Amino acid sequence: MRIDIVTLFPEMFASFLDGSLLGAARQAGIVDIRLTNFRDFAAGVHRQVDDRPYGGGPGMLLMPEPVVSCVEAVQGEAGPGRVLMLTPGGRRLDQPLVEQLACEPRLLLVCGRYEGFDARVREALAAEEISIGDYVLSGGEVAAMVIVEAVTRLVPGVLGHEESARQDSFSGAERLVEGPQYTRPREFRGLEVPEILLSGDHGRIARWRHEQAVAATSRRGPARPAPSSPDSSPAPFTAWSQRSPS
Ligand code: ADE
Repeated sequence: MRIDIVTLFPEMFASFLDGSLLGAARQAGIVDIRLTNFRDFAAGVHRQVDDRPYGGGPGMLLMPEPVVSCVEAVQGEAGPGRVLMLTPGGRRLDQPLVEQLACEPRLLLVCGRYEGFDARVREALAAEEISIGDYVLSGGEVAAMVIVEAVTRLVPGVLGHEESARQDSFSGAERLVEGPQYTRPREFRGLEVPEILLSGDHGRIARWRHEQAVAATSRRGPARPAPSSPDSSPAPFTAWSQRSPS
């Protein structure tokens, strides 16, 4: 699998990509991950990549030309691939989507910065927008790392023990989260390992684990809470340091 990451901050990825599992998978040629800085595709001596939004508003937006030219250049090397832009408003990443992405031969991850991308980037690249959750990061780099880690661990040969990926939370037909797990010692500060796990009865253990997983899943509640009405929504965020003493 080849993954290209297009970013203004390639240096953020250094230790992440060289880390244990991913570093070994790259060395073994199982995954090929490449970084390209779209500032290298910006015009002028200042290599400007951002500008003020039309219509006014705070902050700066990424200009379409450097991002689109960069992605097109990367596509020219190894085909179009599936282009994913990291944005807080995109489709929420979940395990079924991760599984789908893990079947792609080639992904291109485009990381935003500032207040986001000019809207024409998505259209010009026929890209999908992906969010890793309903909160705002300062850029798409950490979100791209989340996608790389979640996707590559499903690529055969990366984990080295494929069964553990099949048993992960959110995997399998029921998409349950994992129940509690225990290792040695049998007793820790008065807390005992459940007796059933010591019984050696694999049928009963499997049933117990399934019950625990069902219970853990239902404790988490629905995947997305119903939108609250404006009068029941919490007060707008104010940082601790900005609050007036009460
Ligand atoms: N960029 C900024 N916030 C993001 C989020 N939540 N997911 C993906 N990309 C982002």
